Amino acid sequence: MSARQSDERAADRERAILEALREAGDDYVSGRALAEQLGVSRTAVAKRIDGLRERGWRIEAAARRGYRLLAEADSLHALAVQPLLQTRWLGRRYEYHLQLDSTNDALTALARQAAPHGTVVVADEQRRGRGRQGRSWASPPGENLYFSLLLRPEWPPGAVPPISLAAAVGVAHGLARFFDRPPTVKWPNDLLCDGRKLCGILVEMAAELDRVIHVVVGVGINVNQRRFPGELEPIATSLARELGRTVSRPAVLAAVLAGLESWLDALLAGATERVLDEWTQLADWLGQRVTVLSANQQLRGIALGIDRDGALRLRDDRGEEHRVLAGDVHLLRT
Ligand code: BTN
Repeated sequence: MSARQSDERAADRERAILEALREAGDDYVSGRALAEQLGVSRTAVAKRIDGLRERGWRIEAAARRGYRLLAEADSLHALAVQPLLQTRWLGRRYEYHLQLDSTNDALTALARQAAPHGTVVVADEQRRGRGRQGRSWASPPGENLYFSLLLRPEWPPGAVPPISLAAAVGVAHGLARFFDRPPTVKWPNDLLCDGRKLCGILVEMAAELDRVIHVVVGVGINVNQRRFPGELEPIATSLARELGRTVSRPAVLAAVLAGLESWLDALLAGATERVLDEWTQLADWLGQRVTVLSANQQLRGIALGIDRDGALRLRDDRGEEHRVLAGDVHLLRT
């Protein structure tokens, strides 16, 4: 048996053990019953129980009674996330890694090997997490969400920018169930709570001149991180910081994937106006004075809204209107 086949068999056994323990609720399931169900020895069951414990599931073993599930793991392993998934196509192919350089890079490599629309790659930690405009994205282990999803729209490349707006709306809706009101969006796709960044989104694509090959949407959400290094401290926040309690990462991921699927579906089905309207609702700073920094210019003026292609419209102090396709918005306190 190849190493891959043996890993898959171990994962199948762990999935079956977890299902049996979850179904039993507060009751014990005997090692013998598990061994019989799986057609393996009790030692093999004990080995898989140890594997689950190593990944964070709390499982009690009691003499003559068997095993009992005490607590689910705060793990992003498929065994923890898939039972919570309510999506049709997003995350149905799901890959989890303890550590990656970047989930966007890993998914791009999978896309080149014909991974399907909706594939999701998740990492507990990124060594070289990437942000927009060539920045890095700090990605410490055990606390946050770092994942990427693959889209294969049959579109020309010029139609892609609204995907980043739909992604922001989708994540905001997914997160809304944890808050009294959803986070706000900052153009093009940051999510903020009271002006501090909760989530960043990096959209990348491979295309020919007239046709998209694939789009990778990378999402980083600060979930349970309470302290941020140096320069991030005053500008970053997390769900735990906003809510004053730790939140289950698999539950957040499942909620966010559901929100993403529904808003990406809307966009892919042509409901661009609905996506733009929703984005505009969440952008409570529209109508205010902003500075927009892009690669070749700095503009200051009133943010008017967004166009159908995702461009930000701005009226400068001389009354001239501009359309900005890429850059960063900074709110000006007047
Ligand atoms: C930004 O606001 O600058 C975008 C940050 C995007 C970070 C996510 S984390 C998962 C995915 N993999 C990456 O390397 N980056 C994105």
